Amino acid sequence: MTTTAAAFAPSHRSFEIRAFDAPLGAEVLGLDLGQPLSDDDFARIHRAHLDHHVLVFRDQRITPDQQIAFSRRFGPLQIHVLHQFGLPGYPEVLVVSNIIENGKPIGLGDAGHYWHSDLSYKDKPSLGSLLHARELPAEGGDTLFANMHLAWDTLPAHLRSAVEGRSAEHTYLAKYAELQKRSPWRPNLSAEQIAQVKPVVHPIVRTHPETGRKALFVSEHFTTRVIGLPEDESQALLDELFAHSVRPEHLYRHRWAAHDMVFWDNRSLMHLAAGTPDYLRRKLYRTTIEGDAPF
Ligand code: SIN
Repeated sequence: MTTTAAAFAPSHRSFEIRAFDAPLGAEVLGLDLGQPLSDDDFARIHRAHLDHHVLVFRDQRITPDQQIAFSRRFGPLQIHVLHQFGLPGYPEVLVVSNIIENGKPIGLGDAGHYWHSDLSYKDKPSLGSLLHARELPAEGGDTLFANMHLAWDTLPAHLRSAVEGRSAEHTYLAKYAELQKRSPWRPNLSAEQIAQVKPVVHPIVRTHPETGRKALFVSEHFTTRVIGLPEDESQALLDELFAHSVRPEHLYRHRWAAHDMVFWDNRSLMHLAAGTPDYLRRKLYRTTIEGDAPF
């Protein structure tokens, strides 16, 4: 008997994609991301990700290697500047956790404290991020997502004309000192780390490279100023944009369930960690996919 490549190709699997009753997001049921995806199944997931911006894959009992392999199907992975919080042996996996062991944080405990789009402070910000629940608190620990296409579509005319054609600066260090004062998760950065996060400039309104939809691309965490405006005008404009972006009708609140894998599109969304009580443990593993330079 001859064996062919087709004999080893991953077979097509039946799974369900159910949109949430929310301005974004869908859950994927009956798919094990630990198994290789066929090209057809991958295309279906890819399409759903573009349509819904957040996919929640339920009940994923997968290893860090499997999370990395699935993430890499969408592009190269980015290593977080706080490499101290990489999972040992897996620099591509950022540990997001409030757990302190032997007096040392095992992960980045205040990730997502302010609204942001991951790595918007890089020349090539993130396409998308995947966060896998490893240990969840009995209460709290939700993640909120804001639909930045809707934020653009509903932006009042005076704000539209104020931002069209304009760019803004994004800086990793914008809130670093402030966060450092209040948490054990912000080590002093080495000269090499600071060199990795030089300020960058991106358009305030970006075009999604795959769908062509426009989205607002500023965040309270990383956007520091509008290029070409006096400081007071720039701050007033950014404040209005931030407030509009996170209006309740643009949001989905994710309440984590055990083994959830949440995959969001940073080109379409901002997100925020709603916070976990200090006395409860929370640990998730994040992989971050590199995207294109915004235009
Ligand atoms: C993040 O910003 O990547 C973390 C979000 C969260 O912990 O809920």
